[in-house]
Amino acid sequence: MYLHGTSKINEHGRLEIGGVDTLELAQRFGTPLYVVDEALVRRRCKEYMDAFRASGVSFDVSYASKAFCVKAMCRLVEEEGLSLDVVSDGELYTALEAGFPAERIHFHGNNKTAEELAMGLDARIGFFVVDNFIEMHLLNELAKERGVRTNVLLRITPGVEAHTHEYISTGQEDVKFGFDLGNGSAMKAVRDALEATQLDLIGIHSHIGSQIFEVEGFRVAAEKVADFAADVRRETGAEFRVVNLGGGFGIRYVEGDKPLMVADYVKAITDAVKERFTSHGLQVPEIWIEPGRSIVGDAGTTLYTIGTVKEIPGIRKYVAVDGGMTDNPRPALYDAKYEAALANRANEEAEEVVSIAGKACESGDMLIWDLALPRVRHGDILAVFCTGAYNYSMASNYNRIRRPAVVFAKDGKAELVVRRETYEDLVSNDVVPERLRKMSVVK
Ligand code: LLP
Repeated sequence: MYLHGTSKINEHGRLEIGGVDTLELAQRFGTPLYVVDEALVRRRCKEYMDAFRASGVSFDVSYASKAFCVKAMCRLVEEEGLSLDVVSDGELYTALEAGFPAERIHFHGNNKTAEELAMGLDARIGFFVVDNFIEMHLLNELAKERGVRTNVLLRITPGVEAHTHEYISTGQEDVKFGFDLGNGSAMKAVRDALEATQLDLIGIHSHIGSQIFEVEGFRVAAEKVADFAADVRRETGAEFRVVNLGGGFGIRYVEGDKPLMVADYVKAITDAVKERFTSHGLQVPEIWIEPGRSIVGDAGTTLYTIGTVKEIPGIRKYVAVDGGMTDNPRPALYDAKYEAALANRANEEAEEVVSIAGKACESGDMLIWDLALPRVRHGDILAVFCTGAYNYSMASNYNRIRRPAVVFAKDGKAELVVRRETYEDLVSNDVVPERLRKMSVVK
């Protein structure tokens, strides 16, 4: 079993996270339960900060909150000195409610509405990453109405294909995000931004994809951005203060995933930016990045209770848990792979190969195919690892299944950071029109 962060097997043979026995967690908070190893999140934050400090460049590390956006998480990354990316009014609201400093909030998104832009302006957030011409115009007008100026970065698509799943790669040309470098729209965007009365163009942004295990894509993107910066200076005289190379740093979900050390990604990026900007005779800009998954992904574990078992002799044994695609849609969406273990019998040898099914009414609701486990029993606790990123944030109420609670575990203590949804929560937005309120008989 691959143990992440502070996870270990304790003297009772049970999985422990942050010094807390997972069986006790399951009993105290119920299952499914997301458990976050707080020390590991903090360690990942520090790894990024330390790697940049060692590089000697001016930098900013912004946590991409889409990976896991709840108030306690915003507090935690703030304490670690990171900035925060939001991509919607909901994430912005969460960050502001958490008291995250507005000037360290970056607003992303390919279709920010006028309401979202206004909300960001009114909160005086630090930066908008402008994605397209309509947004640029709208933002400028809204800022004018308010008599304010705002900092913008322009998101460009560098034409780099990252080696990752098609749905999570974004740097190639045929994609919904950003201004294209190749067809001149990026240069036009720079000219428009320079002319916009309320916008301060401070830099350029590129994000090539997610769950990336190599530095090559980042290096090529950095070079393209630098080459573009040289073109911009030649054509307009303007220089970028900031280059933001996005997120996408891969993590180890299963054996065979070979992420680099955080320091290796950071070094490759900072070296490439330094070299290429210098070779163009440009000032080395501030270097910003925005990791999401690699901050919180491997710190998360989901605990489930094992329920029913269906054995098809000679074919397969289906073992069902009390959650599934509703709390982790990634296997169904991206064919994502996970490792798991029996939390309450973590030191027992594997004896059988089973497939872990979710409880949603859909045959595609399978979490893990062919997992080696000790002989499973009804009531065992299954721990699925590496569920910290894009699990809670992508959870749904399909089948009206309530979203699980989230706890932070650290130094032998577990604290609730999101309570389990209640039945009342489930129906709290439902409205029954007057005409449907009384029983009626259809003839
Ligand atoms: N910056 C931008 C502009 C992004 O679009 C993303 C992710 C990030 C940063 C953070 O990327 P990360 O470091 O987390 O890879 N739901 C998918 C992942 C979607 C990623 C979307 N953008 C999944 O579950 O794999």
